[in-house]
Amino acid sequence: MALLGCGVVGTEVVRLLREQAVDLAARVGAPLELAGIAVRRPDKVRAGVPEELLTTDAQGLVTRDDVDIVIEVIGGIEPARTLMLEAMKTGKSVITANKALLAEDGATLFAAAREYGADLYYEASVAGAIPLLRPLRESLVGDHVHRVLGIVNGTTNYILDQMDTHGAGFNDALEEAQALGYAEADPTADVEGFDAAAKAAILAQLAFHTPVGAADVHREGITEVSAADVAGAKGMDCVVKLLAICERVPSEGGRNGRGVSVRVYPAMIPRSHPLASVREAYNAVFVEAESAGSLMFYGAGAGGAPTASAILGDLVAVARNVVGGTPGPVEVTYAKLPVLPMGETVTRYYIQLDVADEAGVLATVAEEFARHGVSIQAVRQVGLGEEAQLVVVTHRAPDAALSATVEVLRGLEMVREVASVMRVEGEE
Ligand code: NDP
Ligand code: HSE
Repeated sequence: MALLGCGVVGTEVVRLLREQAVDLAARVGAPLELAGIAVRRPDKVRAGVPEELLTTDAQGLVTRDDVDIVIEVIGGIEPARTLMLEAMKTGKSVITANKALLAEDGATLFAAAREYGADLYYEASVAGAIPLLRPLRESLVGDHVHRVLGIVNGTTNYILDQMDTHGAGFNDALEEAQALGYAEADPTADVEGFDAAAKAAILAQLAFHTPVGAADVHREGITEVSAADVAGAKGMDCVVKLLAICERVPSEGGRNGRGVSVRVYPAMIPRSHPLASVREAYNAVFVEAESAGSLMFYGAGAGGAPTASAILGDLVAVARNVVGGTPGPVEVTYAKLPVLPMGETVTRYYIQLDVADEAGVLATVAEEFARHGVSIQAVRQVGLGEEAQLVVVTHRAPDAALSATVEVLRGLEMVREVASVMRVEGEE
């Protein structure tokens, strides 16, 4: 077998392969031998990694005759995509942790796996150590999944947790996440929601047997989450979490639904909700299926050793398939459900307004909600002299109607400021 990349994850894969060689061989029914490790900088010191296996010729390594399984932990789009395609073309099976590539161009990789009869396993690409993709791909494949809802990015969960528990501002919490090694030097993929959106696309595709790519996912990051948002959530006995939500949208008839909604954004969830207690850099995912009911998966979503654990699980499965001469399950995206625009997604809003404390203000604000067909669930007003703080929580309504209401409120003279707008998930 060949390893492409030997960084945070790859180094741990090498360590586990060496430490557990005897057990792994017994579980597979054949020894697992590492033929080579492709890296960029062969001279870099890598503890526990045999130097003689290092090479900069990744292309040569994946096409070697004595390699039948390729593990890709380089990351990014190229050269990872070309190397994986080359490997499959020459009859090798591939294991990858590369969510960015799977969400960007998974279709090309899955087509190649089908065409060349190769295995393509990617458990480590979503939620690190947590077994989540195999349950969706195999255990739940006979069920009808309605919804997948989860916290799939550890860095942002750590930042939001610090803001909630210690009252930290976004920038301070981010700096702390970087110091602890959770966030990258360039944290854009995490804090802008790209990482979670890629994972949401992978989850939705598996859950609904329908093609979903990163571009289909509505994405909002956490950079705009303010101390006021977090305080507002506390006042509602809620907590702010970056959620990945994949939902089947029901239709009048038809079992498959009208389409699917796939989205990532920060939202309030009640403190009583199990996802609210997911602290620090942990991940957790809820799966709601027709017959299985609600299932929750929880654990370490990142880090070298947890991610390597998921890769070794895939490795044993793929190696058993190689030994048995039978490939594993292939992706099926037969359902081809449309991914609905965010405006059609039904959700709830929490809106905090600073308004003039005068007669008729509440009535005017309420009138705007009614005019857009949005039903109000609760209103709370606190008088602060000449001004008042007005908090409105809505019932479920199409996102387009909710955001249009907020736009109108922003333009009202009596509304001094729209201090906080946040979606509310996890109840109703
Ligand atoms: P790192 O940046 O730590 O490691 C990347 C490795 O790829 C390095 O060894 C680097 O070589 C090598 N590399 C880069 N470019 C090339 C190239 N052109 N040819 C050969 N080798 C190359 O990344 P991680 O280990 O953190 O992540 C790897 C993958 O795992 C990514 O897809 C990531 O999204 C995914 N993942 C990571 C998790 C984590 O917690 N880190 C969690 C879940 C998934 P060199 O060392 O010489 O620079
Ligand atoms: N940056 C990711 C996270 C790593 O913070 O969860 C694993 O995908």
